[in-house]
Order: sequence, then structure tokens, then C-alpha cells
Amino acid sequence: MKQKEYKRYLVTSALPYANGPIHIGHLAGVYIPADIYVRYLRLRGRKVCFIGGSDEHGVPITIIAHQLGVTPQDIVDKYHVQIKESFKRLGISFDIYSRTSSKIHHKTASDFFKKLYDQGKLLEKESEQYFDPEANVFLADRYIIGTCPRCGHNEAFGDQCEKCGSTLSPDELIDPRSSISGSTPEKRKTKHWYLPLDRYEPWLREWILEGHKEWKPNVYGQCKSWLDNGLQPRAVSRDLDWGVPVPVKGGEGKVLYVWFDAPIGYISNTIELFPDTWEEWWKDENTKMVHFIGKDNIVFHCIVFPCMLKAYGGYILPENVPANEFLNLEGEKISTSRNWAVWLHEYLDELPGKEDVLRYTLCSTMPETKDNDFTWKDYQARNNNELVAILGNFVNRAVVLTHKYFNGLVPPIDTLTDYDREVMKSVPSMASALEDHLEHYRFRDALKEAMNFARLGNKYLADTEPWKVAKTDIARVGTILNFSLQLCARLTIALEPFLPFTTKKLRNILNITETMPWTDLAREALLAEGHRLNQPVLLFDKIEDNVIEAQISKLKRTEPAKKDMAPALPECSINDFEKIDIRIATVLQAEKVPNTDKLLKLKIDTGLDRRVIVSGIAQYYSAEEMIGRQICILANLAPRTIRGIVSQGMILMAKEPDGKMRVISPEEGISEGAIVG
Ligand code: MF3
Ligand code: ZN
Repeated sequence: MKQKEYKRYLVTSALPYANGPIHIGHLAGVYIPADIYVRYLRLRGRKVCFIGGSDEHGVPITIIAHQLGVTPQDIVDKYHVQIKESFKRLGISFDIYSRTSSKIHHKTASDFFKKLYDQGKLLEKESEQYFDPEANVFLADRYIIGTCPRCGHNEAFGDQCEKCGSTLSPDELIDPRSSISGSTPEKRKTKHWYLPLDRYEPWLREWILEGHKEWKPNVYGQCKSWLDNGLQPRAVSRDLDWGVPVPVKGGEGKVLYVWFDAPIGYISNTIELFPDTWEEWWKDENTKMVHFIGKDNIVFHCIVFPCMLKAYGGYILPENVPANEFLNLEGEKISTSRNWAVWLHEYLDELPGKEDVLRYTLCSTMPETKDNDFTWKDYQARNNNELVAILGNFVNRAVVLTHKYFNGLVPPIDTLTDYDREVMKSVPSMASALEDHLEHYRFRDALKEAMNFARLGNKYLADTEPWKVAKTDIARVGTILNFSLQLCARLTIALEPFLPFTTKKLRNILNITETMPWTDLAREALLAEGHRLNQPVLLFDKIEDNVIEAQISKLKRTEPAKKDMAPALPECSINDFEKIDIRIATVLQAEKVPNTDKLLKLKIDTGLDRRVIVSGIAQYYSAEEMIGRQICILANLAPRTIRGIVSQGMILMAKEPDGKMRVISPEEGISEGAIVG
């Protein structure tokens, strides 16, 4: 099927909540793929509008402000600036990055609601909601705390238990209490406006389930399951004093639900950017709209927002919603409250000049079809083994050799060998594979394909060995280098969507002043014979182990101590410590102490003597496992008699909060009696 040609592309990326900084999970899920896509479209000469902005409403922001004793506006002012700045530094190329607390957004969202109301598209309903009688306010679900009915956690929120992950409603909480005043909430009647999603169900089934079978399986599957479970009317207002006021009679003291106003932010931001022509972006069938989001946003972008647009009338709908799954960090879920995250602004400060290394790693591990894991070791390996060893190395060799043999001028092609022709023939198909991946939101495959131009170049140089040929046939070297330099020029195009900082450097080295258009990728001669190159600079530096170790230990250090760990002991002096004689010993014999479950009797060589220690580790180690093992012992502990056996010392163990124990052993063989300290 031939793809429809669109006149313009409206690309949106989820508006992040302005209540904390951006981390790598946001980036890999949403902003990196969106930025790659729009950069690609621009290179193709397409008309693009890339929308970003802060989502500044919602209950969590009011809770944080309440806890810190500041206003919600203070919170969002701080984070909006920080987030906007950090995106810019990473090269996320929004056409506009605005915010939902802006005047223009308040007006747009308010008018949108008013029009739906006037057209009779909203239901008005009274319901019972929790109310805090002491603070005299209705309580959002998040503001109600109680015991989780599923796992018994006694700090569960009214909408979710963070311990077991269950989605809850406040009615399910045992012993609910208000987190504002601590009082027991009461139920009171309140009026709200609802979007009757159920009325749009047949239309949604047709539009998504029939019309968009090409959507990613994770997205299509979630939509199908929502639709199969049946849709209910959804409240689009809340009793809250932070947000866009409800603009109709009876709306006093109420605001639009954050998930109602936030997606309208995409529209407001377009209006802010193009006050006169914004409608062509939103109301013309020749506009292709694509929403980049994370998987927790699917229902809002595929079901709720489209229903809002449909109810309003005259708006286009998203053509695709390529939502990603989640990125984990070092094998664990990213958690902002536990500070288990790599924060963008810190990364940019601590690893300056390495924007593209992060972009590269996050694109390579992008959770496109399932959750994926970021590890610092993988980051290092991708830098050292791919960016340095493949990309940097190829470019550097081609440019250095050109300076060495041809004074930095692109040499002429002499005669092409069969091998040259064969290599050259692979270029157009690589270009079209790359294009196909990008058109279909397969960014990991796309990056691999773009890097294949560098892989091809490296292999070509290794096979043709110009540095050897130079002794006998300088014209042949010219051909080889011309061919290699054309590949370098192609890399400035192929990698531009992914690594914009690097391609800029590369264009400088190659003395190319402007970005080449996408179609040049498959063209033969991008650099003319005699074109002068600049001096090479290294595109990437090797990242040493200490840099990676510092990041890993920072992560571990800043993670607040796990709740159940034993508390720290009071400070001691070095003198206190010096009284303790810890030594390396080797276990010679081991046996279970008869009639006990926990005790092992160990005969050990301490380097000073041979002695017996009785240790309570039988639940964790068998006697056989202990024999021959090196351990640490407290050698000068006064002897004790245990079960009639004199135990001379103690084995050092690490103990988990749940009681699980592991012996401490030296990393490699050490002489018995060696001092630990
Ligand atoms: N702030 C939301 C989140 O971080 C995303 C809002 S997307 C928008 O999950 F469409 F509502 F803007
Ligand atoms: Zn729970």
C-alpha cells in the first residue's frame, strides 16, 4: 500500500510533570525517539512542528508544595526552567517548549471545556466524594492514606499502593485518613462533569481496532483491552484549587482534571507558536499527527483525548501513537522517591561533552517492545566498543590518511575494482532500510543501520589496507580514500537524527558547511574531488573504569538506606577499631554440631594457630561448602563455650535484613593470618 503523502507533521511528546527533573527513563521512553523522528523528517525537507512543554497541574504538585510550605506555582516555576534547559542541552529540538500554567493555555483549555459543555457533550452528575472536615476541602484520592486491602501496607494512597503496586480506590482503604489534617474523611456530595466515553465506544472500535491495526502491539493491545472491558463516563473536573477553573455555572472551587487540560496543552502550545496558522496543524486532514508517550499514557492519548477531539469536532486524530515501555536502571525500576535514577541535568554537568553518548546508549536500549535495562557498564561498552572503536576509528583513519597522502584534499577516483563496486552497491539498500525503520518508529534498528555505514567503512579499510598499498600504488590509495570519505559524508546524514553533536563535529572535520539533505544518502559523490578537509579531531574518547565506577557508587550512595536495614551505630574512634584483630583464615574441616539446625563446627588455620570456631551459619552453608574456603575472623574474641565446644573467635558475615547471611571472603587467595583493617 502506498503511503499517504502529508503536507505537514505535528509531532507531540508527553508534557512532563513539572514537579521533578527529567531522568533517563523519560528520555528513552519519549524524548529521544521523538527527537530522532523529527530530525529525520526535517532532513527529508518535511514541514514539522515538534511540541513539548511542562504539565503543571495535578494533585501531586499540590502535595509537594504543601509538604515544602511553598505554592504550587513556586514548584512548577523551578522545574519548568530546569527541565526546559536540560532538554535543550541534550539537543532535544522542540519547536516550542511552553507550559500549562500559561495564560494562553488556561484560555484554550477553558474554551475547549466550555464549548463541549455548551454543545451538551458533557454529563453533569452528583457523587459522593471524600471531604476533610477539619481542612474544609474535598480530598483527591492521593490525599487519602490508609491500609492497603491487598498487602496490608499502612501508607497506601487512595489511588494506588506503592508497596504492592495495586490500583486502588479510596473506598477500599482500611482506616482511611486525610494526609492534610490527619482527620478521618467523610463523604459529601459534590457535582462534576463527565465525558461519556461509553458513547464513543463503537466509533473507537472502528477507528482503532479496524483502522489502526498497524499500531505497535503494546499500544493496540492496551486499547483493545480497554475497549473489551467497556468504557465508562470519566470525570473531567475535580474539587481542587490548582488548575484551570471550571468555566461554567456551578464550577466555583473546581478545576479541570489534569488529564483533561494537559493534552489540550499540545493545542495551546501550537497556538502560541503559530497564532495565525495553528488551525492548519490541527484541523487539516493533510497533517499527520504523532504522539510520543510512555506506556502509562496510552489510554489518555488513544482513547480519552481522541474522544475529546471527536466530541469537539473538526480536529484531526493521531495517525500513530508509538508508545514505549519502561526503562529500568541497573536491573531495578527507576524510582524518583528512592532517588534510583540518572538525572539528566546531573549527567550533563558531570559528563560534559558526552550528550551523544547518552543519546546513543538510550536509543540502543530503548524499551520499544518490552521493558529494558540501562546499566553504566553497557553505557561504557557502547562508547568504547562502538562509538570509539567503530565510528570514531573509521572517520579518524580516513581523514588522517587523506592528510598524510593527499594534503587533506579529497583524492580523485582512479579505477574502481570489483570489490569497490560490490561495496558501493550495498549503499542504496542500507539507506532505504534505514529510512524504512525510521518511518515505522523502529529506532533501535534504525540506529544499527546508520552505524552500518561506519561498520562498512571500517571493513573496507581493513580489507583494502591503504597504508600498505601506499608504498606501491598511490592512485589506488586515492580511490580507497575517496570512497571512504564519501562514506564519512554519508554518516553526517545517517547519524544526524541520533547524534546531532557528533555530526556537527564531523561536518566540521569534513569542511561541510550545511547539513546535507536526506536524499544525498544514496547519492554517489557527496564530496567533490579536491575538496579540502579540516584537521581531524577525535569524535569520542574512551571512557575509563573509574568514571563508570564513580557513577555506580553515586547511585548506590544517594539511594536512601533501605528502610529495614539496621540503623547506624554511634561514631567510634580509630582506637576503638584498633582493638579488634581481624584475620584471614582458611577452613580446614567443617561439620554440623549434632542435634542443632544452625551450628557448624569449623576447624580453621588462622596463620597464628589452628583452632575451632562454632558458627551459626548452617542454614546458609553446608559443611562441604565451607571446607577450603577463606574467611575473615575476629581472632581476639574471648573464647566462649557453645554446646560444650570451646569456640575461639567469630566468623565475619554480612547479614541481610531478612536474616540471610553470607561469609566475607577475600577476592583472591591470601596468606592465612593476613590482617584485615
Ligand atoms: N504529565 C504526564 C505524565 O508525565 C503526561 C501528560 S501528556 C499530555 O505522565 F498529553 F497530557 F500532555
Ligand atoms: Zn498494597
